Amino acid sequence: MEEKLSAFSIKNDLKTRFIGKRVIYYPSLPSTMTVAKKEALAGAAEGTAIIAGEQTEGRGRLERRWVSPAGSISLSIVLYPQPSLLPSLIMMASLAVVRAIESIAGLKAQIKWPNDILINNKKVCGILVESGSTGKNDTYAIIGIGINANVKVESIGDVLVPATSLSGESGGEVSRLMLVRQLLIEMERLYPASNNSEDVYRGWMDSLVTIGKKVRAVSGKAIYEGVAESVNKDGGLVIRLQDGSTKTLTAGDVTLQD
Ligand code: BTN
Repeated sequence: MEEKLSAFSIKNDLKTRFIGKRVIYYPSLPSTMTVAKKEALAGAAEGTAIIAGEQTEGRGRLERRWVSPAGSISLSIVLYPQPSLLPSLIMMASLAVVRAIESIAGLKAQIKWPNDILINNKKVCGILVESGSTGKNDTYAIIGIGINANVKVESIGDVLVPATSLSGESGGEVSRLMLVRQLLIEMERLYPASNNSEDVYRGWMDSLVTIGKKVRAVSGKAIYEGVAESVNKDGGLVIRLQDGSTKTLTAGDVTLQD
C-alpha cells in the first residue's frame, strides 16, 4: 500500500532550503497552475509547492487538456527568477524529472524537445511553465509538472504522443511520495539561480532524445522537416532543413521520424 501523499509527509525532514519548504496539498483540484498563480500574485514564498491528488481540469501546453486521474502526480512550484533565467527553467524541470524518475523508479527517462519526458519513446510526463509579472517589479514563474505515475494508460489517452506510466513501465507501483520529494530536491539542486546554468544546459542536452534524429516540427501554422542538429542555450531547437539551411524553433511540437 502506497504511503499517503500529504503536505506533512512531503515536507517532513525534506533536506531542501526553499523548494518544498511550504507545501499545499489538495486531494482534488481543477488545476494546480491556477492555485500556484494566485499564490505567486499574493507573494507566496519562493519554492511554494502546490500538489494535487488528482486534477479535474489539468492544463497542458498549447492550451491542451492534461488528464491527471488519481494515482498521477500534479505539481506546481512558485519561483521568482531573473527574467533572463526563464529559458533555463524548462531545462531544469525536465532534467530534475529525469533524475528523480531514475533514482526512485529505476527507469531510464529521456527528454523530447522541449519538455516531454519519455520512457521507451512514450510520454510519461509533461511540463508547463507559465510566467508573468507579480505587479511589484518581479517576475514569477510557475513550473507545472504532471507525471503518469500509478495510472492505467487507458485512462490517460494516447492522443498526440503514445503515453505510458511509471507503473506500466516498471510492472509495479512507484512511491509518489518518494518521487515528489526527490523531484523537489533535484529542482533545488538544478535551479539556475545557483549559477550552474551551463551544467543544466549540458545535462538537458545530454538527455535529449531529439538530437541527431529526423524530425517534423509544427510551430504555429508552419511545418519544418529536417534533422534536429542541436539546441542553443536559450533552449531553441536548431533544425537542418532539407535545403541545407537551418531553422531555430523556440516553441512547437516535434515528432521523431525514425
Ligand atoms: C504538456 O505536456 O502539455 C504539459 C502538461 C503539464 C501538466 C501539469 S500537471 C500539474 C500542472 N497543473 C496543470 O494543470 N498542468 C500542469
